[in-house]
Amino acid sequence: MTDALPAAVRPLFPALAREEDGRPAVFLDGPGGSQLPAAAIDAMAGLLRAGTANDGGVFATTRETVALMARARRAAAQLTGSAPEEIAFGANMTTLSFLLAHAVARTLQPGDEVVVTDLDHDANVAPWLTVAADHDLVVRVAPITAEATLDADALEALLGERTKVVAFTLASNAVGSITDARRIADAAHRVGALAWADAVHYAPHRRPDRGALGLDVLLCSPYKFFGPHLGLASIRRDMAERWPADRVRPASEDPPGHRFETGTPSFEALAGFVAAVDYLAGLGDGDLDAAYARIREHEDALSRHVLGRLSAVDGLTLHGIADPSLVAARTPTFCFTLDAATPRATTEHLARRGIFAWDGNYYALALMEALGLEDHGGAVRTGFLHYNTHEEADRLADALEELAATGAPPTTAVTPRRDEAPA
Ligand SMILES: Cc1ncc(COP(=O)(O)O)c(C=O)c1O
Repeated sequence: MTDALPAAVRPLFPALAREEDGRPAVFLDGPGGSQLPAAAIDAMAGLLRAGTANDGGVFATTRETVALMARARRAAAQLTGSAPEEIAFGANMTTLSFLLAHAVARTLQPGDEVVVTDLDHDANVAPWLTVAADHDLVVRVAPITAEATLDADALEALLGERTKVVAFTLASNAVGSITDARRIADAAHRVGALAWADAVHYAPHRRPDRGALGLDVLLCSPYKFFGPHLGLASIRRDMAERWPADRVRPASEDPPGHRFETGTPSFEALAGFVAAVDYLAGLGDGDLDAAYARIREHEDALSRHVLGRLSAVDGLTLHGIADPSLVAARTPTFCFTLDAATPRATTEHLARRGIFAWDGNYYALALMEALGLEDHGGAVRTGFLHYNTHEEADRLADALEELAATGAPPTTAVTPRRDEAPA
């Protein structure tokens, strides 16, 4: 049981020094957003301090902005196994998802089909339902298995000659299950459909390498992998050039990915993003694959430990892959319910102990419905990242054992409505 990786990196993350009631805070809300290394925070502040400007002019600050955008595209391309021309930045993944779905749908015919899955966050489902209603498309839904993994056989059975898009997640933000992206991409391509992947939850844990995974479109959110609030799409070049984008007439068509960038981007977020990718690469001495291998080694050990501890908590039901020998098929994101307390009462109990965790559906709406949890307050989600420790896992398990033994006190706190909770 080693925490060598978190010991090395935690000092780089100012927020991880935070205390709650005299004890270190435990950040288990990673699937909702990660913390940032100081280098990324400083890069954003540094840009604004040095003087910011829009791109495309001739004076010093605007030239610096143009250079920054080129650097950000190169960093995104390197991360996603793409070319810089294939990158589009946006406000967040959801916004890019709607924008790109609208563009693709304009190229489809009534009766064409889109396959979505019950494992997905709604940001990779609702855009397809919306464009299906607008363009008379048919949406088919691939189910999950009893272990809350994607039923790939059932998905393949839905594919046919009318299938034009297979929209699926690389990893579930609720239960952590990882999908077999290669298999799904190959199946989509066999029927001439696009392989369209949500890599938002995958990216902090595995490299979101569109090229290596054989995907046509990959969407992710740098704020989940140690960067600022920002969205990122990698779109196969021929498609980025061709799809009819929503754009203002004077905006440049070059590079192709830029066609999907509307208005002025957050340049400071791009500066933070470049620093975040540098941070990630630094974990592997400049090699992103080595960095992710290092992350994975720590996270797999953490997953085995957490699964062991959670399985000993009285009345705890884990939703998702529970077998410690199968951690390769999941991220260290754990979704569970307790007999002793509702999901909200459980996260309140954890919050009183300085442990930050979500309850609800985290916008994985179809999954919560499929698990029969949506009408019962959803479930608790604790998500670990490479900077989390075994000791933090023990603090979580100890707090849950205490709750299982004593039950939850009556709720006194004023709590936000479920639909106000971020994903
Ligand atoms: C798996 C997954 N997909 C999509 C999203 C939406 O991302 P964004 O907040 O960048 O719109 C989230 C956000 O939590 C997510 O976890």
